[in-house]
Amino acid sequence: MKSTSPTPTTTTTLLAAILLLISTTTAQYFAAIAIRSASPLHLQTIEARNERLWIGGTSTHYCPQQVQALHDCPNTHETNFGGGTGVLYMGAIVPGGQQVYIDPTCGAVMYTQAHSAFMPQGAIIDGWTLSQGENFGVLGWQGGLVGCNETADGSWEIYAQLPGIQLSRECLGFVAITVNETKADAWQYT
Ligand SMILES: *[C@@H]1O[C@H](CO)[C@@H](O)[C@H](O)[C@H]1NC(C)=O
Ligand SMILES: *[C@@H]1O[C@H](CO)[C@@H](O)[C@H](O)[C@H]1NC(C)=O
Repeated sequence: MKSTSPTPTTTTTLLAAILLLISTTTAQYFAAIAIRSASPLHLQTIEARNERLWIGGTSTHYCPQQVQALHDCPNTHETNFGGGTGVLYMGAIVPGGQQVYIDPTCGAVMYTQAHSAFMPQGAIIDGWTLSQGENFGVLGWQGGLVGCNETADGSWEIYAQLPGIQLSRECLGFVAITVNETKADAWQYT
């Protein structure tokens, strides 16, 4: 009977094709920086912390011991994202990913916990826009984004402007510019 197992040559070709496919479909990540000149939030990075997005500070994240043992944990305290057209994802490696959503009751921009798709009822996941310029991109949300509730350490919580929800007068509108990155900044954000 004739063997149907692939010859070494076809196996190599197949592997090369798969590697090419992986490299051309690798997720493009981007970091984001808030812009509003002459304001305290100007040029601070956007960071994931305690299931919310902030302007300023560092990220909070977690990487399991088994992954640490393989030296596969991203070694950063920063935050990046994927998607950005329609929906926005966290730049997280954890299987299932982490989705950014807007809390419909207050407009807070949040993200799902690792291994969970839980979101409050009516959570808004779409409406994100990402336009590319020559040197950087611009990330937006259809109704606008603001930074609110400045903390003692100078960070601002990010909120989406939702119809019918009055935000505090201290909230500041900003533009988020993006910079491409090739790797996720965290195994998972916490
Ligand atoms: C960033 O990545 C996007 C998507 O791949 C691309 O369209 C854009 O030109 C890149 N921007 C820069 C400044 O390299
Ligand atoms: C800011 O903080 C106050 C007090 O904790 C809270 O009531 C409010 O919902 C927060 N958000 C905005 C947008 O002001």
